[in-house]
Amino acid sequence: MNFALRKPETRTARPRIEPASVIAIASGKGGVGKTWLSTTLAATFAKMGKRTLLVDGDLGLANVDVQLGVAPETDLAAVIAGWVELEDAVTPIMGGSAAPGGFDVLPGRSGSGALAGLPAEEASRLAASLTPLALQYDIVLVDLGAGIEENVMRLARACDRCVIVANDEPTSMTDAYAFIKVLRGYAPSVQPWIAINIADTRVAGRRTYEALARASQTFLGFRPPLAGIILRDLKVREAIRQQKTIVQIDPNAQAALDAAQIAEALLRGGAEGVSVAAN
Ligand SMILES: Nc1ncnc2c1ncn2[C@@H]1O[C@H](COP(=O)(O)OP(=O)(O)O)[C@@H](O)[C@H]1O
Ligand SMILES: [Mg+2]
Repeated sequence: MNFALRKPETRTARPRIEPASVIAIASGKGGVGKTWLSTTLAATFAKMGKRTLLVDGDLGLANVDVQLGVAPETDLAAVIAGWVELEDAVTPIMGGSAAPGGFDVLPGRSGSGALAGLPAEEASRLAASLTPLALQYDIVLVDLGAGIEENVMRLARACDRCVIVANDEPTSMTDAYAFIKVLRGYAPSVQPWIAINIADTRVAGRRTYEALARASQTFLGFRPPLAGIILRDLKVREAIRQQKTIVQIDPNAQAALDAAQIAEALLRGGAEGVSVAAN
């Protein structure tokens, strides 16, 4: 297995001084909008002029490529199999990260076998390969698979921050809490943030966030900051159906504006100005 990267100069005209901020998008439960938020944040950061890479970390049920309407020639499954180098699996979207509004994707392959099935050593190597990649970008987003199993945590551990997406369904909330708890034990240096998706109202979204933040405060001794609240919006389904980002089809749709606020909060360091101290 060879995760060797070519020298960064082959891809980047502008040498970077600081590595990218590496942000995982996670949830515990599937179907809460992780992949949609990942692709939307990638397009939003790109629009803000950030050199952005989106990694499809949901190896077994990969669908970043499906949501973006691209058919990558190669993918992370081929990288893990040792057939291609990581660098060769980078797929440009809308001209790629060097083009205005474009970004890069490291696609997964649906049906290639879940991340859960990877030997620990390979999952760790995949996670470690994010570090040199981060030197070429301002932002690296990792769309994590659902669940709290160890390989998901291995990838999460390679990130600086982890945005946990939840909605108001009790199963989503308990799974989000479980994710925060396991992450805290497994990777205490990774900051967990909370994003509430598919909220019916802002007040309801805030209530869901408060319930999760309170449980973390009471049982884990810290309060994850709020990344933001995204309202339920039919335009999300429309974008997914058209296999385009919502930023392309309707940048003024409510969910697109809500995601843009999350991007800004992540760049600022907190919607509430709260930073999470490791304790
Ligand atoms: N803000 C939203 N408003 C309405 N529907 C949404 C919203 N976010 C996500 N969805 C719906 O949820 C579905 C699952 O989203 P997806 O990103 O595939 O979830 P995950 O990656 O967590 O499994 C989407 O197909 C979309 O229909
Ligand atoms: Mg997904």
